[in-house]
Amino acid sequence: MLASILLGALVTSYLLCPIWRVIYNVFLHPLAHFPGPWWAGATSYVEAYFDIMKGGQYFRKIEAMHARYGPIVRVSPEELSIRDAEFYEHIYGSMSARRDLDTANARLNGSPTSVISTLDHEHHRLRRSPLLPFFSKQSVVRLEPFIWSRVNLLVEKLKHAHKTSSVIKAVDAYGALTSDVISHYAYGKTFDYLGNGSDLEFRNDYMQAIAALSFVSPISLHFPLVVAIMKRLPQWLLQILNPNIIRVNELRRRCTDLAMKVLQTTSPGEKDVSEKPGTIFEALLSPSMPPEERTLERMTDEGFIITAAGLETTSRFLTNTTTHLLLNTDCLAKLRAELKTVMPAPGDCPPCSVLENLPYLSAVVAEGLRCETIFMTRFPRKLVEPLAYKDFTIPAGANIGCAPYLQNSNADVFPEPERYRPERWIEARERGENLGKYLATFVKGGRMCLGINLAYTEMYLTIAAIFHNFDLEFVDSGLENITTTRGYFFGFTDNYDWGVKFRVKNVLG
Ligand code: HEM
Repeated sequence: MLASILLGALVTSYLLCPIWRVIYNVFLHPLAHFPGPWWAGATSYVEAYFDIMKGGQYFRKIEAMHARYGPIVRVSPEELSIRDAEFYEHIYGSMSARRDLDTANARLNGSPTSVISTLDHEHHRLRRSPLLPFFSKQSVVRLEPFIWSRVNLLVEKLKHAHKTSSVIKAVDAYGALTSDVISHYAYGKTFDYLGNGSDLEFRNDYMQAIAALSFVSPISLHFPLVVAIMKRLPQWLLQILNPNIIRVNELRRRCTDLAMKVLQTTSPGEKDVSEKPGTIFEALLSPSMPPEERTLERMTDEGFIITAAGLETTSRFLTNTTTHLLLNTDCLAKLRAELKTVMPAPGDCPPCSVLENLPYLSAVVAEGLRCETIFMTRFPRKLVEPLAYKDFTIPAGANIGCAPYLQNSNADVFPEPERYRPERWIEARERGENLGKYLATFVKGGRMCLGINLAYTEMYLTIAAIFHNFDLEFVDSGLENITTTRGYFFGFTDNYDWGVKFRVKNVLG
């Protein structure tokens, strides 16, 4: 009798728990009084529904919420989205401001011990510190000859593509370049996607792996158990369910192998990192790191994240800039005229410091970074202390964020945001304004992109080389191929692609 009463009580409370949770979230939660539709604050399964069942559509709901309720809206029970250009930097705080990461968002990358998934602010700083010299401007300058050599390899491949009239998928070609650069940078050994002879398809398994991870992101966010089960499935079954996930595992295995080699040859803490470390693993084995931070799992996670962060992002931005320049021939003409001043001959490879001083090229890079719907995630930060915003006091424990594209398309600071107009950067500089402080593409604060120097160098060198050497033309492509209609961690077009294709019309010079 007692047992059945207990069982009944258990079942009833199990059934009532979600109902109680919804009532609590809507009426009693510390974020209950923030603007937004009641259903967004009631349960995160609404977001799950729009992202999983409707194929990455919650971002549209968030845009609509901002249009209706204003700059601050509650987009899920624990999270506020704030779209206010001037307030953006306060969301993420200064480099030293304390900002944590909540557990759900930390799951998104599937690499729990990596710097990007680290929950606690201090712990994050500890993990980020040995990587800082590794990604410093000086380190990237040292790498420049290698980056130029890979860019030139891409140029050679495109010359060959011209002869054969081949069709190139932009994101794959640029992805081969960025994979080769990041693998050399991180591991001291390039994956060599560009070096393999006549393959003009630029096949790149790792790009597909990252896309696969991105599609799983809403499941990781809302149904972690499903992901945990998937991780335990045998390879043959995974191969049937989602072959691209197999590639995620392959990349992880490759990172593990590389990490293991370094671990076997370096005694813990013995590595002298006073000079630039040779590989990220040497940096991670710095004597300043406590032993529990120098594990194989951590090095695998970090290697995986750095590889993934370094290839998909930059290749997509290069694809975007290529598309915008092909669509805006007046901008392309201005760019070419400027490039000629520092690259008089076709094979010239000026240092990045020279290219960075070209006003129009700099504006092209900045506008390419602004005109984007690449990251659709909101990069939320968990507040450690309350934060004032207008009449609101956002309580500690709340997650706050703003998807980069929402900030980059804010008409208050970027008028006519939908127009690709590099000139806006030049005009702002002439007025003495620093538009760059509003650019959200690399996020801000102590967790902002670590690879920003490398990313800029890759973009300057590649854009200069490609448009100085080639006349390109679209093949069945246009703006629609870089316009997000499905928002996962990354944005995708309707057919789950980022598929601008081009052909080399002329080799210049
Ligand atoms: C155009 C290219 C790139 C863009 C737009 C970009 C953007 C971003 C963004 C938005 C974040 C912040 C993530 C967060 O707040 O949670 C981030 C973090 C990071 N990025 Fe990049 N990234 C780019 C290229 C690179 C490259 C080339 C690398 C080099 C390997 C890199 C390495 C990283 C790492 C390691 C983090 C984690 C930083 C941390 O948690 O402290 N990124 N990136």
